[in-house]
Amino acid sequence: MISFRSLRLSLRFVIPLAVALTVLAYALVPLVDKLTLRWFIRDLDSRSRLIATTLDEPLIQLLEQKNRGKINSMLLRVIKDERLHAVGYCDSDGKLLYNTSTFPKAITCPPARSGEKESSSIHNFSKLTVHVATHQIEQGSIKSGYLILVHDMSFITLRSADTRKYVIILFAVLGIVISIITVFVAHLSWRGWLEGVRAMLRGEGILRPFNQQTTSPELQPLLGDMRALLRTIDAERRFADDATITWSPESLRKLLHSHLAGERIIVVSNREPYIHVKKHKLIDINRPASGLVTAVEPVMRACSGTWIAHGSGSADRETADRNGRVPVPPKNPEYTLRRIWLTKEEEKGYYYGFANEGLWPLCHIAHVRPIFRTNDWQYYHAINQRFADAVIKEADNDDPVVLVQDYHFALLPGMIRQSLPKATIITFWHIPWPNQESFGICPWREEILRGLLGSTILGFHTPFHCKNFLETIDRYMETRIEHESSTISHGGQLTMVENYPISIQWPPPWQSTSIPILQNRTEILASMGLPKNHMLGLGVDRMDYTKGILERFMAVERMLEIHPELVGRFSFVQIAAPSRSDLEEYQGFQARVHAMAERINIRFTSNGHQAIILKAAHHEPDEINRYYRAADVCMVTSLHDGMNLVAKEFVAARDDEQGVLVLSQFTGAAHELHEALIVNPYHVEQTADALYSALTMPDNEQKERMSSMRAMVRDFNVYRWAGRMLLDAARVRQREKLTARIGRNL
Ligand code: F6P
Repeated sequence: MISFRSLRLSLRFVIPLAVALTVLAYALVPLVDKLTLRWFIRDLDSRSRLIATTLDEPLIQLLEQKNRGKINSMLLRVIKDERLHAVGYCDSDGKLLYNTSTFPKAITCPPARSGEKESSSIHNFSKLTVHVATHQIEQGSIKSGYLILVHDMSFITLRSADTRKYVIILFAVLGIVISIITVFVAHLSWRGWLEGVRAMLRGEGILRPFNQQTTSPELQPLLGDMRALLRTIDAERRFADDATITWSPESLRKLLHSHLAGERIIVVSNREPYIHVKKHKLIDINRPASGLVTAVEPVMRACSGTWIAHGSGSADRETADRNGRVPVPPKNPEYTLRRIWLTKEEEKGYYYGFANEGLWPLCHIAHVRPIFRTNDWQYYHAINQRFADAVIKEADNDDPVVLVQDYHFALLPGMIRQSLPKATIITFWHIPWPNQESFGICPWREEILRGLLGSTILGFHTPFHCKNFLETIDRYMETRIEHESSTISHGGQLTMVENYPISIQWPPPWQSTSIPILQNRTEILASMGLPKNHMLGLGVDRMDYTKGILERFMAVERMLEIHPELVGRFSFVQIAAPSRSDLEEYQGFQARVHAMAERINIRFTSNGHQAIILKAAHHEPDEINRYYRAADVCMVTSLHDGMNLVAKEFVAARDDEQGVLVLSQFTGAAHELHEALIVNPYHVEQTADALYSALTMPDNEQKERMSSMRAMVRDFNVYRWAGRMLLDAARVRQREKLTARIGRNL
């Protein structure tokens, strides 16, 4: 369909064209007149010659007979031809001997002895224009004379008027045909041009494979400039936002209102933030041991909206309404938790199977072999679809902001995109992304990558994980990657891949209610039967083989071997929340942790004080906070970890600016907390040394290190994490709206 706008634009070509053609037509008419007149004169000349030749013989005979009557009637017969106006005969002395009555008086005979055989001329009388042709007649005794043929030229005037009319009609038709072709071609190229500009604004111009280039050749030179400009604007705005905003729940709320029109956000994760469990006929509310929940919950409280998650608690159904909805936090509701129900088989296939036996070991370098079963994959697919349906149901407009969390939902972005093409989907991958070769062993790698490319923004903790992802895409998918802006173009959809280091809320939730640090330390030590001056190390983890718990125990053991003076004066408390215990790998790991703790304790228990105090049970966050505040050293020795928020929680808990963090170099946190003692957990000696250095570090050095790390966690808190993603999403939305508006106005 040709739109009114393109018609209007085309008229800008057509009107000047019509004017030009009209001027041309009027300029051409006299030329055409002259030309046709010349043709007609030539035509009349030859016509006259023909008539004269035909009359030659009979006229001579009649002249010889001097038969005046017959001569006159012959001449009268000749002028019956409508174009022949008059005929006359002049003798060689230039005297008009015979003529029809119509013969104009003004026409004279050729002078005597003119010698000219034939001639022609045009004469204009008041109402008449005539062609006069003179032909010499000569034969035998007859003295040569002249036959004068006078043709009426008014038919030429008539014909000339006709010709003028036809020329003008021809030009008008030509004009219309050219206009139609012009409008059509202009419309097509306009559309192509528009598409090109739109693609450029979307950033697709140079993101397509060379044989699928959408940008027209004439736009190519503009492309680089335009993209550079957009990048500069983006970078400047980003920098300005980052530098000027103090990130807090309030600034996050403001951002939502100013940049995202107060959108309610929809969060999707497997783990729910509040789990209702039955306990001795009562219902308890548990907060899960999950970095994801720690980070996302304060964001949800600030933004409000709906959090969709698996309802896994034994009392979850009875505490939710018939749609699975429950307002949370329970004491002071600020958003809605929408629970999704799974059968035991579904949980086994989707969560335990594909997510935790397949993707989890695939993404972590912990030397546990991933297991991929077709049956698990089918459940994974089906449950992703169930969550996608729930998102679509919860969305109250066609362009909701959806935050998809973690490796349980790799297919979800693509599924949501199919039903809500305008949705802003921010996916955050909380675990590492492996290198492309390791990822390549997943039998459903293309499906997973395609699903993730449904995201508007795909976030990882570190630039290194982003790089791994881009290389994986490059290796296994037909896409175009623009490394400079970290964008992937796939099937007309752009995905921005960016690093957003996750963090925790600041100020920490327990800041105002925590008891004084010394009192807290004394109470915690006393609760474990330890004296006041006992040195305390701490580990807080889910019972997971990626966390390096065994390596940590080995480092404790080694330190006590090297420093026997610390035996009985130092204990390491390991809080290990049970996790994924339905899986054999985890059961085995749990057994190994218990066995090693026992073995070390047999070696190094003194005065009834164990070297390792293993607390393999769920602990609520406020309780864990008390351990953080009591410890001299906190050890985070993950073999591989996306970020590890325990490191940041420990730092946040230490408002006394004391305590030392020993941190694995294989965590995302090590890229931010440079003042920690960074270790390779596979290197037992080195980790043992670091532990000893921590326990013997002077207070002022502890203070220096801790205050610097606290400033880092304060400034780069979880509101900044969410805020940066939402700002980027807002920019993408704004750019899309701008593209649409430019498209409408062009
Ligand atoms: O590390 C990935 C992650 O999803 C974290 O965000 C979270 O701390 C943990 O796994 C939770 O695991 P699960 O939900 O299986 O208990």
